[in-house]
Amino acid sequence: MKNFELPPLPFAQDALHPHISANTLSFHYDKHHRAYVDNLNKLRVGTKFEDSGLEDIIRKGDGPLYNNAAQVWNHTFYWNCLSPQGGGKPTGELLSAIEETFGSFDEFKTKFSAAAASLFGSGWVWLVCDKKDNLEILSTPNAGNPIRDGKDPLLVIDVWEHAYYLDYQNKRADYIAHFFDLIDWKAVEERF
Ligand code: FE2
Repeated sequence: MKNFELPPLPFAQDALHPHISANTLSFHYDKHHRAYVDNLNKLRVGTKFEDSGLEDIIRKGDGPLYNNAAQVWNHTFYWNCLSPQGGGKPTGELLSAIEETFGSFDEFKTKFSAAAASLFGSGWVWLVCDKKDNLEILSTPNAGNPIRDGKDPLLVIDVWEHAYYLDYQNKRADYIAHFFDLIDWKAVEERF
């Protein structure tokens, strides 16, 4: 059995300032993300998932094992949606698909932001596509992950309080607005 490892953060911890602080990232990445990896490695000992990949556990696992596996995957994916050079809007086929599905990029932004603001408690809000490249905004509570439902994640925002509370306290809407200044649309386009 090979342990899962915490993947390196794809940018310096102070690189997302002023949108997300180094203080937030030190807790979010070094403490929360790392704890999910450590818990996952402990929990799968002695289970049928000892030699399984992360996505296999997300598709077939349950309970704490599923929760920790999905949180490991979701956080790695979230970091890879962000860039110090992010923001703006997508181009090409993804932009066309967004305009076709949601009316315009601004409409998409409004709907995605509203979904992120209104998700009750902790969870994730995704832009996903299905096997026919239909786009959809999806909210998943807690450690939810669209892979379990056969959807392909393109973009995600973490709306657990640990993602924004040190910087924005109760003002989740401010965090969501700043998140849009960090989105790495090139990476999102490559997934589409
Ligand atoms: Fe998180």
